[in-house]
Amino acid sequence: MGEVTIEVKAPGEGEPDSLAVPFPTGSGPFSNGARELDGLLAGRLQRLADTGELKGELGTTVVLHTDGELNARRVVVAGVGKRDEVDADTLRTAAAAVAHRVADVGGTLGWGLDPSLPLSLEEQARAIVEGTMLGSYSPARWKTQEQPEARVEKIVLYTTDPDGLAESASRIAGVGKWVNLARDLANSPPNELTPAALATRAAELAGPRLEVEALDPGQIDELGMGALSAVGRASSNGPRLIVLRYEPARATRKELVLGLVGKAITFDAGGISLKPALKMQDMKGDMAGGAAVIAAMAAVAELELPVRIVAVVAAAENLVSGDSFRPGDILRAANGKTIEITNTDAEGRLVLADALWYARREGATHLLDLATLTGAMELALGDFYAGLFANEEDWLQEVLAAAKTSGDHAWPFPLHPRYRRYVDSSFADLKNSSDLRQGSPVLAAEFLREFSGEGPWAHIDMAGPGFLERSRGDYLTQRGGTGYGVRLIVELAQRLSR
Ligand code: BES
Ligand code: MN
Ligand code: ZN
Repeated sequence: MGEVTIEVKAPGEGEPDSLAVPFPTGSGPFSNGARELDGLLAGRLQRLADTGELKGELGTTVVLHTDGELNARRVVVAGVGKRDEVDADTLRTAAAAVAHRVADVGGTLGWGLDPSLPLSLEEQARAIVEGTMLGSYSPARWKTQEQPEARVEKIVLYTTDPDGLAESASRIAGVGKWVNLARDLANSPPNELTPAALATRAAELAGPRLEVEALDPGQIDELGMGALSAVGRASSNGPRLIVLRYEPARATRKELVLGLVGKAITFDAGGISLKPALKMQDMKGDMAGGAAVIAAMAAVAELELPVRIVAVVAAAENLVSGDSFRPGDILRAANGKTIEITNTDAEGRLVLADALWYARREGATHLLDLATLTGAMELALGDFYAGLFANEEDWLQEVLAAAKTSGDHAWPFPLHPRYRRYVDSSFADLKNSSDLRQGSPVLAAEFLREFSGEGPWAHIDMAGPGFLERSRGDYLTQRGGTGYGVRLIVELAQRLSR
């Protein structure tokens, strides 16, 4: 799905190809909107409810074809579950179900907003636009025989109270486009999306206020980034440090520079500590954190948010060759600390170590890194929440709040000095993994903390929600990249520009 236009209209205006309405479960009375619609449809909704064909369960849709009673040719009644349990994710899910249902007709999709739902009209508009856009995404762009779907080109939000909705919903549609770009990047095969290719994709996003550059292996070595350099060394597709700088015309908080750091392992074979073959193909998505950072920078620049941002994406391919780094190697990171390698598959923390240092060097006052870092994070939280770590309470709360409203959910996890022993090494300043099978997401976060410099830093381990093995059963119905982090970053940037 490409660009979508958004309009806001009064009920009855215009001629949408389809008109969707939210419909909760329960025997309670219809909401005003549904009652009015039922009146226009000569009681057909009520009869369907009576016969049990229309229950309103979340994710279900019932389609009625009209015959001149309405200005829409079809009505899609979208189940949203229990009325008082309706939240933004519910509406995103319902909107995605509707998008699937109208995929063969496309065109203009109307959506009736419902003031009786426990969400503001703006929140409803936002969720519907996001659900439609993310729910219509297809990961099948590498199929030669892909059936082009008739796509939704326009979403018309119907409400009697349109104040400011068109603008905010259009902004959301803008962000949705970048979320889907991050998904394309994560789904791109690793033979196509090498570190250099990712740098090229980032460079294409440059604009008057968004500067993009990429440091090559020579420059990475010159800066003393021994960790990133070692991880990327085995591949003939050498590493890149992709740097994006966004300078707004006017920043609300001049002293603040948001530093975004993304893990972009374009393929993680594990290196000498080779991964098992099963599902190794999903490790093409090990650059999802970096993809989110890149796509979010484009979104922020497009929205012209008044906040200064520097983004650093560490791109490398973790392969096996005669020139691989090895378990036992001791590396020197750019901040001068030495790292004993105990597992070459714990490569994400290594590339992030140098990227965090670089972001501070570029003036970042507040850091946030995003990474598909540990399998154990996915074991702990599944595909829905990411784990969030931070070295400062205020910054944790700020990121947490952004996560919550954005729909990119995150749950706080602890850091504690007592965990430091997990990364103590007998030979070097620290080691990159432990043979204790304990708290590996926390261990990784403690490792990163050593490279986060002075000032607030937060870390999001998005191994679960970043790349899906299968449909999540909500609005993310496709296997593969989810664009996790794009909405979160945009929301955070928005908060920092107030
Ligand atoms: N990219 C993986 C983590 C991962 C696993 C993300 C599964 C998404 C799904 C990371 O580089 C890795 O291999 N981590 C290891 C670390 C271990 C060797 C200390 C892990 O979590 O098993
Ligand atoms: Mn790994
Ligand atoms: Zn990895």
